[in-house]
Amino acid sequence: MKNAVITGAASGFGRALALALAKRGGWKILIADINRAGMEETLAMVRKAGGDGEIFECNVTKPEDVQRMADYAFTNWKGVDLLINNAGVVSCGFVGDIPLADWKWCADINLWGMLYGCHSFIPPMKAQGSGHIINIASSMGFTSFMELGPYNMTKAAIISLSETMCSELAASNIGVTVSCPMFFNTNLLNDMHYRDKFQTQFARSAFEHGRMTAEQVAEKTIRDYEKNKLYSIPQMTGKLYWILKRFSPRLYHVTLAYAMRKGYGEKLGLFLARIGMM
Ligand SMILES: NC(=O)c1ccc[n+]([C@@H]2O[C@H](COP(=O)([O-])OP(=O)(O)OC[C@H]3O[C@@H](n4cnc5c(N)ncnc54)[C@H](O)[C@@H]3O)[C@@H](O)[C@H]2O)c1
Repeated sequence: MKNAVITGAASGFGRALALALAKRGGWKILIADINRAGMEETLAMVRKAGGDGEIFECNVTKPEDVQRMADYAFTNWKGVDLLINNAGVVSCGFVGDIPLADWKWCADINLWGMLYGCHSFIPPMKAQGSGHIINIASSMGFTSFMELGPYNMTKAAIISLSETMCSELAASNIGVTVSCPMFFNTNLLNDMHYRDKFQTQFARSAFEHGRMTAEQVAEKTIRDYEKNKLYSIPQMTGKLYWILKRFSPRLYHVTLAYAMRKGYGEKLGLFLARIGMM
């Protein structure tokens, strides 16, 4: 039996990741979240899909909660093979307009929450001599699309943190995967902090027209973990932006800046969202 811990597993991507493991058989999953009813639902689905597990209330913005979870898993389950730092939220708007409280809210959950997970789980993984950590970032971490500043900033930091961990942990036999999906339909928009009509329309269109389901994105991410890949970019559109950005970062950003200056940047964003390119 292998053991996994997944944060934010009461809903969306976290739940889909739990089910992708459960259906493989031989996985016990600690389903962690702040939403008790959602965790119970995920656990029932995991059991139905062939896995087993427990729920664990954990607010990832509280380092003491995350440490308690690591202590629980390493003591009672005798080890953790896989940690998935998944809990996350979105905050939109223009830099300068977004209230500082929204930046903090987003950074506390997306970035600090993920860091607390790494901080508490790496030492016991080193002691057991093995393990793997999947950090859930987003393609927005490298596309840096406009009006998503807090989200982009935290996801870019997660990519950098994962790259650092990949080399640091190699000698300890701990693998690292950073998952960078484009948008797909989950409950992420329910709690989104947004400022104007465009940002809501854009997000809703990107979700509606996303080219993959949460289940497909989760399956791709778990397969990339099984292959011990550092980068997991599940959608083809994400891979396209990745190549474009690497080929010429200047051309990429100058094009977006030109579109914004001419006043059609938001229309371009909506168009891309509607044709499933976000
Ligand atoms: N849905 C997408 O389009 C998309 C794309 C790329 C990356 N992601 C990432 O996937 C991850 C999961 O998002 P999702 O789309 O499944 O959204 P979701 O809202 O469906 O799920 C997020 C889960 O995180 C939990 N959560 C929120 N704050 C928490 C906290 N402080 N402590 C513990 N749990 C907390 C919520 O209760 C919820 O169950 C996020 O990191 C998100 O950035 C999502």
